[in-house]
Amino acid sequence: MDGKLLAMARQEKEDIRRRAVQTDRRRHEEVYARVPEVRQLDRRIAALVGQAAAAAMSGGNGQMDALRRESLELQARRAELLVEHGWPVEYLDGAWDCPKCRDTGYVQGRMCACLKKLYDQAQAKDLSALLKLGSESFGTFDLGLYDDRPDPASGVSPRTHMETVFGICYDYALNFRGRESKNLLLRGGPGLGKTFLSACIAREVARQGPSVVYETAAAVLDAFEREHFAREGDAHDRAAAQVRRMMECDLLILDDLGTEMVTEFTRSALYTLINGRLTAGRKTIISTNLTAAQMQERYTPQIMSRLEGEYQLLPFVGSDIRILKKERGLD
Ligand SMILES: Nc1ncnc2c1ncn2[C@@H]1O[C@H](COP(=O)(O)OP(=O)(O)O)[C@@H](O)[C@H]1O
Ligand SMILES: [Mg+2]
Ligand SMILES: [Zn+2]
Repeated sequence: MDGKLLAMARQEKEDIRRRAVQTDRRRHEEVYARVPEVRQLDRRIAALVGQAAAAAMSGGNGQMDALRRESLELQARRAELLVEHGWPVEYLDGAWDCPKCRDTGYVQGRMCACLKKLYDQAQAKDLSALLKLGSESFGTFDLGLYDDRPDPASGVSPRTHMETVFGICYDYALNFRGRESKNLLLRGGPGLGKTFLSACIAREVARQGPSVVYETAAAVLDAFEREHFAREGDAHDRAAAQVRRMMECDLLILDDLGTEMVTEFTRSALYTLINGRLTAGRKTIISTNLTAAQMQERYTPQIMSRLEGEYQLLPFVGSDIRILKKERGLD
């Protein structure tokens, strides 16, 4: 079992349990407020349980029977009151999603089916997110799509340059676990293969085992916003789980930075994400169409200093491959 995915599933289960406890508390408050007699009954039933325990210790069988009868009467009265006021009989019997394990995920030290199911779902989501990336792999990366005529300014052809970029990405993916791998910043105009190459890295690293999350910057920041602004509930918890995943995965691919909306909030969320991952020693690959100047304008000095200090810059050059492929009838 993948430890990261299991941790995610357990976290999710913990959220479910927390919610169940809250719901249970809220229901008790609701019922007690409207029908105070139920609270009195609950108190008397609890007291009887204590007396029954004492009676069991001293072996008084007749006393036990009397207590049991009284307790049953009180419970019947309580059930009557609930139904009379329009609640289901079991309204106060716990709001567990899975009564078997009371949402702890374990029954007598063994993993409960409900937790196993969450784990399977986490795994399926992980895979589908990667498969969504399509068929990009290092093997299908075509250097022939980059011009081999030397660039007049640098004297280096886009093809030669991209060969180097390809080599760095390839090594990065193959040695992801081994070496002190840096974070990467893939920069260049649209259609130059940034998403393609980051997908190749994602696929290869995931194949080796580490957890990889691929998301567009817009989707990532959207999740941060939902986590922050959504009211408590399912939507909030889902966003929180997504944010945790993006903060905690071994490799995060943040695609298309610069297409997200910039607000005070997203700036601070982006810093939290980039800095938090750096501090934890987790790797991030960012791709962007923005020039250095555009980034400077858009992001805070704190963000820029992290990117400049801790990311290896890989400039992508050439002409838009989407257009090239169309011209050559490759698409
Ligand atoms: N080296 C390459 N070999 C084959 N196809 C490529 C290559 N680079 C890009 N493409 C294709 O060109 C299109 C644009 O590439 P993409 O990676 O999305 O560009 P970017 O993310 O830089 O805007 C995609 O359809 C992609 O599959
Ligand atoms: Mg792209
Ligand atoms: Zn369970």
